[in-house]
Amino acid sequence: MVIQASLVQWLKLITFACTLLAVSFRGAASDYRKVHIVYMGDLPKGEFSAVTLHNNMLEQVVGSGASELLLHSYRRSFNGFAAKLTNEEAEKLADMEGVVSVFQSQKKELHTARSWDFVGFFEHSRRTVLESDIIVAVLDTGIWPESESFDDKEFGPPPKKWKGNCQKSSNFTCNNKIIGARYYRAKGDYPLEDLQSPRDSVGHGSHTASIAAGAVVSKESLYGFRAGTVRGGVPSARIAVYKICWYDGCYDEDILAAFDDAIADGVDIISLSVGGFFASEYFSDSIAIGAFHSMKNGILTSNSAGNDGPYYASVVNISPWSLSVGASTIDKKFQTLVKLGNGKVFKGTSINTFDLKGKFYPLIWGSLNETLVKGKIVLCDYLDFMEGPLQAGAVGALIRDDGFKDFAYTFMLPASVLGLTDGSDILHYINTTKKAEAAILRSTEEKDELAPYVASFSSRGPNILSLDILKPDITAPGVDILAAWSEATTVTGVINDKRIVPYNIISGTSMSCPHATAVAAYVKSFHPTWSPSAIKSALTTTGTNTIFAVGESYIWLLTNIFLCFATAWPMSPKTNTDLEFAYGSGLINPSSAIDPGLVYDAGEIDYIKFLCGQGYSSKQLRLVTGDNKTGCTKATNGSALDLNYPTFALAVSLSGDDTYFSRDFHRTVTNVGSPVSTYNAIVNAPKELDIKVKPNVLSFKSIGEKKSFVVTVAVKVGLPTVSGTLVWDDGVHKVRSPVVAF
Ligand SMILES: *[C@@H]1O[C@H](CO)[C@@H](O)[C@H](O)[C@H]1NC(C)=O
Ligand SMILES: *[C@@H]1O[C@H](CO)[C@@H](O)[C@H](O)[C@H]1NC(C)=O
Ligand SMILES: *[C@@H]1O[C@H](CO)[C@@H](O)[C@H](O)[C@H]1NC(C)=O
Ligand SMILES: *[C@@H]1O[C@H](CO)[C@@H](O)[C@H](O)[C@H]1NC(C)=O
Ligand SMILES: *[C@@H]1O[C@H](CO)[C@@H](O)[C@H](O)[C@H]1NC(C)=O
Repeated sequence: MVIQASLVQWLKLITFACTLLAVSFRGAASDYRKVHIVYMGDLPKGEFSAVTLHNNMLEQVVGSGASELLLHSYRRSFNGFAAKLTNEEAEKLADMEGVVSVFQSQKKELHTARSWDFVGFFEHSRRTVLESDIIVAVLDTGIWPESESFDDKEFGPPPKKWKGNCQKSSNFTCNNKIIGARYYRAKGDYPLEDLQSPRDSVGHGSHTASIAAGAVVSKESLYGFRAGTVRGGVPSARIAVYKICWYDGCYDEDILAAFDDAIADGVDIISLSVGGFFASEYFSDSIAIGAFHSMKNGILTSNSAGNDGPYYASVVNISPWSLSVGASTIDKKFQTLVKLGNGKVFKGTSINTFDLKGKFYPLIWGSLNETLVKGKIVLCDYLDFMEGPLQAGAVGALIRDDGFKDFAYTFMLPASVLGLTDGSDILHYINTTKKAEAAILRSTEEKDELAPYVASFSSRGPNILSLDILKPDITAPGVDILAAWSEATTVTGVINDKRIVPYNIISGTSMSCPHATAVAAYVKSFHPTWSPSAIKSALTTTGTNTIFAVGESYIWLLTNIFLCFATAWPMSPKTNTDLEFAYGSGLINPSSAIDPGLVYDAGEIDYIKFLCGQGYSSKQLRLVTGDNKTGCTKATNGSALDLNYPTFALAVSLSGDDTYFSRDFHRTVTNVGSPVSTYNAIVNAPKELDIKVKPNVLSFKSIGEKKSFVVTVAVKVGLPTVSGTLVWDDGVHKVRSPVVAF
């Protein structure tokens, strides 16, 4: 079927096309140079001087002055460079020996749904001493080292394997928690608002780092909201900071430089809550390239799925060798009541930290005229931080907007977001009342009876590059999360906001990604030798489409995940109409992830076969692997259906007048559970979806033993998305994979 790109994707595409047009126009008019990435695959064997090699290559296309155009050489974990090139020079380089791809650097964005505050962390139960040897790399906006979440008391020196460093910069020091910190800006054009240091002046990087690996901090909150203990998922793990994002975004050349270092520095997991405007082809995407070399070096990359939901095919970061994480709600939501002079009460959404003590103020509509607004509450028709009304002297704001309602914004003044219906009622009241007045109450935290569900903003599948690979892979909490913040910014991130806080509540797949990172790190602390794909499989096959949501607050939610006291709530199809394209294989479940029973493992060679099948050439793939024997032949021409992926996606293509479309998936599982065990295949599917497994019993005699099977999926043609599950069950473990046909 033809993939309909979402409106947002189209808009982005148009913007991108315009940028390209502008660039080529300027390129034609002069020899206008833009930053390009020249990707050259694996490091050459033996000694090599990267800078000399890269300069020589550049000289061949630009003549003299090459060294001034070379911005960065990648040489620690893979080969390539970033340089300023015209389109013509880029094309010449693309044809040169040793080059896999050349692409123009793009700006990527942070995956916060916009700006607000967050909370986040896990409580621990079973832990291993190895956890303190785990190094979590956070590629983000830097870190606020003075945050209590990054205190290093009770931490010994960094693990011996650590080869990274703490980049010298004024007023920033690492410790035994933050064991490394660097910053990247190859172009050197630091934005004025930013600090030329690994120090975080945005807040986002401190937030994600503390969700993943922040220490245990009790009695934290945002003005009393989400009060309790804040802790990262792996509070004993170490953090390595790679600052790649600045006020104006995150550039490809810097993202790749951070991957190049993080891999060589000896990190265990890479967490990246950043993405492009739309999914790019694998070797034209800095994150997919970085994640490939991470995988090759035994490091899993955990990525945010993007915040362009709920549109179809909006998911970015879709390479099969990385983990793509969607965002779901937790069982608490913010509510901000609004009372009118006529006694009516409306329930709005926001995180209103201000307390007007229930006082009524005159209510007007839609004006920012200071004379009219001063001392009043204003009803607005748009959603932003409400800096305008604040400057005009408004006391508060009501916002009439039907946009996202499943997460809460923070505003610069007392405010509540009301839907269009309630907003129109209030407007009618204003129009028909002489002395209209309203009161905005402080927010309260209510139980969300619908939870858990995937947030509207969380990007949806399918995967536009490889339809037969299900993305996102998994879901984790990403709505209204409390975690560490930077004190160089404010609650809303707006400079005129006066509220500087150590902890803040924000939402986004940016927040769900580090939750999954933490669980991956947690699994690795129990199984240090597992491959990135095995860890990913463990997360995926235990993240059933049930979610754990009990207890008083988010803290309890996570405590209960770890203590296994939680009760399972199904992710209801009513609130998740996009099914697996919204939540992948469901919500992460840390306590089961450490004991998955079986794993769907895959290594570099499997991904290379997959890439052959996707049309990449032997020449490209030899460079990527650094192995001259690699090649695409009939035997290695792998179908995406046969990549040993822990989930099953089948894109139905209409052919002839068949009523059924049928395909085989080949899979191999590795026993990591009990040495002697027998697993039965249990299939659950609607009648339109026929799933056959051969053999349907797998018997193991030892750990590490592998068994193969074939899953035949037949689906009635002409249906919308249908899904079922395949579960391998030995009575102890349930190895669950979604099967989706669309
Ligand atoms: C160093 O950082 C601390 C903590 O944020 C800050 O209070 C101080 O002003 C900074 N000093 C300089 C010289 O930037
Ligand atoms: C603001 O409102 C006052 C009172 O209605 C009016 O006199 C004034 O012209 C308005 N100012 C602007 C800039 O529209
Ligand atoms: C209220 O009045 C404004 C103009 O004064 C008008 O545009 C709007 O349609 C009215 N709305 C309602 C609900 O009465
Ligand atoms: C791979 O082949 C290229 C060209 O054929 C050659 O220059 C290079 O040395 C070979 N590399 C290895 C590791 O054999
Ligand atoms: C790989 O398979 C695809 C689709 O079946 C085919 O178009 C392509 O020619 C094959 N390539 C090789 C090298 O066999």
